[in-house]
Amino acid sequence: MINVILIGFMGCGKSTFGKWLADRQQMDFLDTDEFIEKMEGIRISEIFARKGEAYFRDLETKTLHMLLGDGDEKEARIQKSTVISVGGGLPVREENQRLLKRLGRVVFLDTSVDELVRRLKGDETRPLLQGTDLRKKIESLMDERLDIYEDTADIIVGTDGKTLFEVYEELMREWGY
Ligand code: S3P
Repeated sequence: MINVILIGFMGCGKSTFGKWLADRQQMDFLDTDEFIEKMEGIRISEIFARKGEAYFRDLETKTLHMLLGDGDEKEARIQKSTVISVGGGLPVREENQRLLKRLGRVVFLDTSVDELVRRLKGDETRPLLQGTDLRKKIESLMDERLDIYEDTADIIVGTDGKTLFEVYEELMREWGY
């Protein structure tokens, strides 16, 4: 079983492309943010507001262990080939990078800051992007994360100006098909 793990900045299209890809390849689809929201029974923004970011980051690591079937938490273990879209900040923790590699082949969807600013304008669901100067927030997070995304990825696919099908074609080419 090979899972496809999609990493990348908020708004790079992990969920949209992930669902599309899973449908096309007859794979399951899982989004770690949705998984965490179900586990906690509240939205991500509420988790940040009530319990803080550190608590959320621990939940991300716990989620990866659960999907791998580590320890006693076997019920969520991935059984069938799955496209897994992970939260934009999940690969930052070193432990998570190792867990992602165990879970499947890691694909970084690489989107420019200009494109991200366009896509994320007006977004109210992502706690780390609220307030003023969206571009500055994206740039400073991207500064911290770009190397991590690149180093964690087995495959890097640029998404700017591409349709879902074009992203898919490039992924397949890079994958070796
Ligand atoms: C985050 C990205 C979000 C979500 C949370 C924090 C981040 O997921 O996990 O708001 O730190 O980049 P998406 O990348 O799916 O938006």
